Amino acid sequence: MEIDPVIREWLHLAGQAPSSHNTQPWRFRVDRAGVEVWTDPARSLPVNDPTGRERIISCGCAVLNLRVAAATDGHGLNVRPEQAGDGPFVRLLTGHHGGAGRRDLAPLRDWIGERRSWRGRFLADEGSPDIVEKLVQAAHHEGAWLRPVTDAEIRREIADLIRAATTAQWKNPAWRRELAHWMRPPSRGDGLPVGRVTGGLTRWSVRHLVSARAMARGEAHMARAAPLLLALGTGIEGPMQWLTAGQALQRVLLEATRHGLCARYLNQPIQQAEWRPMLAEVLGGGQPQLLFALGRPDGTPRPTPRRPLDELLKH
Ligand SMILES: Cc1cc2nc3c(=O)[nH]c(=O)nc-3n(C[C@H](O)[C@H](O)[C@H](O)COP(=O)(O)O)c2cc1C
Repeated sequence: MEIDPVIREWLHLAGQAPSSHNTQPWRFRVDRAGVEVWTDPARSLPVNDPTGRERIISCGCAVLNLRVAAATDGHGLNVRPEQAGDGPFVRLLTGHHGGAGRRDLAPLRDWIGERRSWRGRFLADEGSPDIVEKLVQAAHHEGAWLRPVTDAEIRREIADLIRAATTAQWKNPAWRRELAHWMRPPSRGDGLPVGRVTGGLTRWSVRHLVSARAMARGEAHMARAAPLLLALGTGIEGPMQWLTAGQALQRVLLEATRHGLCARYLNQPIQQAEWRPMLAEVLGGGQPQLLFALGRPDGTPRPTPRRPLDELLKH
């Protein structure tokens, strides 16, 4: 079936979503009724994400982009998450008005192409409290919670968890191998970009050289010093909640981008089962799905590559 150029543009925008290790684990199926978003198990990260939780969250981010793109073209998509053999998928049916929700989403379209993750330092500028309130509301609209960590003692406790969890991750050779595997030249269209000439050395250094303790110290410092530290989560746990978390994350990120803020992820205590309950307790309950710092980057974040649309289509 020939895909309508308007829908092609929606799919292009959906593919700009963030994803763990930039795996872009989504596939799109288009028919007369609308668009389906499927997760791609071939793009899983068995060590970093053994349950596929982050893979489904990443697909949730793509779903939110689709909803935003459709909203600006006057469509409110009817979103229907469904369960299939190889995980959940989302059916987005066109031809719905969408009401007030559509009007709230449409202004976010301009920020889809501007959003970037950031792994450097932030400027020491906390931004105004009403930005934080807007972000909390953005997550709430999607059925998730967003908790800014403002208490210094709680920040310290979270930083300690991040240090322990980061050390464990970097002490795991399989985790290092998996990360190195996804570091590749931008021309490949996915993964974490490294130079074509220097990439081999960077990957070798990730596998064998980088000090677990130094990484852990850096990540813990970021958790203590970042302008904003936030946790995003759901009430209960499961694949449908992961889709919700992804849509909430992307809505928060687009709202943050609109205010000049970039995210730096500190997910290590969530990615490993040992630390997740401890983090949940420190945060006061619920199921934490993402932990990240937000701030104005001290530098210019570079765009990461994306695969061509035709590779993303499921027939
Ligand atoms: C569910 C999820 C988990 C992520 N976890 C991490 C992480 O632990 N560390 C990190 O540096 N980036 C993390 N990222 C960011 C991705 O690496 C990033 O989205 C990807 O490389 C594409 O780059 P971009 O966000 O600048 O478009 C995560 C993104 C998502 C959606």
